[in-house]
Amino acid sequence: MKYTLIRIADAADWQVYHAIRRSSLWEERGLDGYDDARPQERFAHHHALLLKLNEKGIGTTRLDDLRDGTGIVRLVAITASLRRQGHGRVLDTMVEDYARGIGLSGLFVSAASDAERFYTATGWTRVTTQAPELLGDADGCVRMTKSIVP
Ligand SMILES: CC(C)(COP(=O)(O)OP(=O)(O)OC[C@H]1O[C@@H](n2cnc3c(N)ncnc32)[C@H](O)[C@@H]1OP(=O)(O)O)[C@@H](O)C(=O)NCCC(=O)NCCS
Repeated sequence: MKYTLIRIADAADWQVYHAIRRSSLWEERGLDGYDDARPQERFAHHHALLLKLNEKGIGTTRLDDLRDGTGIVRLVAITASLRRQGHGRVLDTMVEDYARGIGLSGLFVSAASDAERFYTATGWTRVTTQAPELLGDADGCVRMTKSIVP
């Protein structure tokens, strides 16, 4: 099994990224209106990331560099049929390595409450002090954080 984590650059990978997010985080939750043209996706300090397994896209997230040494991980998802096989854990580790590579020392996530156990299992803890304003404070979400060892 060969995993790679890429920062998305070409149209085919953007398509896979949006398809995974649309189905995992909108349709499965009974939501519609996923917008794949939001300008935030293309900001230079927002890193749209695709996890590939044997060259096929299976997981996504976006890492927003807050440019203060920390970042926010947004919309983590693994293709539904491939969950509970350890791919999410691999994505989490690879995103952490990626974040370390761009000089970050701490990460935040606003976790859907039904995903909290996944984050706890991968080393995240609930935020107990201050969190970045951009993390937001959405109902039904848990604010979590993780330090990155240099
Ligand atoms: C959350 C998500 C990314 C996890 O990906 P995954 O590939 O299933 O995760 P893994 O198989 O690597 O799980 C790692 C550990 O997390 C925990 N975990 C993962 N999913 C879990 C669940 N549904 N319930 C309880 N624990 C869970 C387990 O401890 C698991 O280890 P185990 O399988 O050895 O018990 C995936 O379930 C997903 O895409 N969910 C839909 C989108 C979503 O809710 N994203 C989070 C938004 S904040």
